[in-house]
Amino acid sequence: MKNFEYYTPTKVAFGRGEADRVGALLAEQGCHKVLIHYGGESARRSGLLDRIEASVKAAGIPFVSLGGVVPNPRIAKAREGIDLARREGVDFILAVGGGSVIDSAKAIGYGIPYDGDVWDIYAGRHVPVQMCPVGAVLTLSAAGSEMSNSSVLTNEELGLKWGCNYDICRCRFAVMDPELTYTLPPYQTACGVVDILMHTMERYFTREPDTALTDRLAEGLMRTVLDCGRTALAQPEDYNARAQIMWAGSLSHNGLTGCGTVGDWASHKLEHELSAMFDVAHGAGLAAIWGSWARYVYREAPERFAQFAVNVMGCAPGAPEQTALAGIEALENYFRAIGMPVSLQALGCTIGEAEIAILADKASRQGTLTLGNFKVLRQADMAEIYRMAN
Ligand code: NZQ
Ligand code: ZN
Repeated sequence: MKNFEYYTPTKVAFGRGEADRVGALLAEQGCHKVLIHYGGESARRSGLLDRIEASVKAAGIPFVSLGGVVPNPRIAKAREGIDLARREGVDFILAVGGGSVIDSAKAIGYGIPYDGDVWDIYAGRHVPVQMCPVGAVLTLSAAGSEMSNSSVLTNEELGLKWGCNYDICRCRFAVMDPELTYTLPPYQTACGVVDILMHTMERYFTREPDTALTDRLAEGLMRTVLDCGRTALAQPEDYNARAQIMWAGSLSHNGLTGCGTVGDWASHKLEHELSAMFDVAHGAGLAAIWGSWARYVYREAPERFAQFAVNVMGCAPGAPEQTALAGIEALENYFRAIGMPVSLQALGCTIGEAEIAILADKASRQGTLTLGNFKVLRQADMAEIYRMAN
């Protein structure tokens, strides 16, 4: 078991009706003026934004609003938010939405006190030491940004989608009302299920020994998400299923299921290049690439994949290699059953050797970076995984 730091400062307000408490939560943070940041039409259509505005007004806090965040959030919107927030003297940003809105809010928060262009932070050219604080009202269980230290932003001018991780961007509070996720289209629910599973799998597929407690937490979380994912798709207004998924989404990416392990994250990095190039949904991109990654790397430690097969996917124990492969197949079958693609073609991406070369070049930052820890991947390995996924 590796030494680890576990830091999870986000206050969670979980359950039915909690969104109506958002004004009080902002007041508790000492907020004087808030920027309410949201995506397309879903939060307005459901009446959520009206409820939030009423709660903020009742707390006596002035606000300005900025909508229009798109999935795979763009830097242009973040720059617009930075200008608006500075002009209006905002001292807190409230994200109302899923991972894209929360990540855009974090980008605005980073940008407000920084003199240069906010992309410098995502490009690793500037290390932020302060930011305008962010809170979230979550409407989609998926990315885990409501409790993570990450923000992922698309620079549409450069064709890049890069993330950065700093503890200062962790949300001060996260409001999680499972009922807010009832309106999700089935495809988004399924994408969320994949992303939540993957945040724990990226940490679980480790070569680090002696992680028994973290393993049991991770296996329990994954089994719960597999079960409740099926239920939520069959019965979108099943409160219990939505609630388990929502809480799992946060715990899967706040660090808990990685304590003492060494994370891999290659599948995520390979996917980010797909969503940068093709603007696909992150969870669907992960489903399309994971099986190929798994088949490419499992021989490094088949017993770890066999443990996953038996303890998570319910496969019969047997010889490690066969059991490992059975587990990979079982998860791909699950992805298919919930309507997720397990190849790039099924994802709707037509790629040939030229695109594979570009994807691998970008994922390896022109051959200067390796990816992953379960098996360290070089540029040629990355190209082979994209080829296998095709
Ligand atoms: O824009 P609206 O109209 O709100 O529609 C959204 C959007 O089209 C819709 N939606 C959200 N809540 C809804 C709803 N529709 C109906 N009812 C609701 N309650 O869902 C669509 C997708 O939203 P988005 O925020 O893009 O999804 P998600 O939460 O999956 O976030 C994906 C982004 O997060 C990044 C991904 O790369 C991607 O850019 N990630 C962020 C991470 C982090 N910061 O820690 C970690 C992840 O690994 C991931 O990379
Ligand atoms: Zn993810």
